[in-house]
Amino acid sequence: MKVGYIQNAPRFGGKKANFEEVAGLAKGMKADLLVLPELFATGYTFTSKEETLGLAETGDGPTAAFLKHLSAETGAVLVGGFVEQEEDLIYNSAMMVYGDNVIGIYRKIHLFNKEKLWFSPGDKPLEVYHVKGMAIGMMICFDWFFPETARTLVLKGAQVIAHPSNLVMPWCQTAMVTRCLENRIFAVTANRIGRETRGNDDFNFTGRSQITGFDGTILSSAPLDKHYAKTIDIDIHNADNKSINPYNDLIGDRRKDFYL
Ligand code: ACM
Repeated sequence: MKVGYIQNAPRFGGKKANFEEVAGLAKGMKADLLVLPELFATGYTFTSKEETLGLAETGDGPTAAFLKHLSAETGAVLVGGFVEQEEDLIYNSAMMVYGDNVIGIYRKIHLFNKEKLWFSPGDKPLEVYHVKGMAIGMMICFDWFFPETARTLVLKGAQVIAHPSNLVMPWCQTAMVTRCLENRIFAVTANRIGRETRGNDDFNFTGRSQITGFDGTILSSAPLDKHYAKTIDIDIHNADNKSINPYNDLIGDRRKDFYL
């Protein structure tokens, strides 16, 4: 399987320009799975709920249309973040698209910092989608800080985690080595670059998008501050074998009686 990511620098509020930038980075790419950053078409640093609402859309809005177009161009399952509106609630969501179909939408369950002012917390279960011969789970950025997120996706059968991100802290890329090692799973963390100074916030996004292997190996690492797109080949079935040695299986050896 060919999996990859696109690392862009969203202009706040500039959906059309951001779609064009991502399309340019994806030009000529062919893949099975391509992951884009969290909120890749809107930017991240909101200053009011009204501003968030102004960039919100439903699961069949312009972001869905763009991801369908990109899926047709690349042959890949696309996963990317967007501001989702359902009735009067707004979510920090990621959409999985293949061909002309929206396969699933995930609403971020662990909101970071002021996201709690703009978004409602995710209200749907973590899901695994079987598409194009892969079992794919989605989590968004700060979800990495809660190991239960990746573990739940693995217990539900995921082989690879699509992980759209807008990272502002320095630890995720290192932590994903452990997340993947402790679950024997692949992860594609697609981060953004650039700086957003809005309201009282000044965020530098940390780039270094990363593909992490089932054994904790870093298979691809993007630059800190450059637009970048990359695919690599993986044998996704390496994620199916959870045994570490003849005596240890990291799912079978869990001591559930001792855990909260
Ligand atoms: C984050 O969750 N965007 C840090």
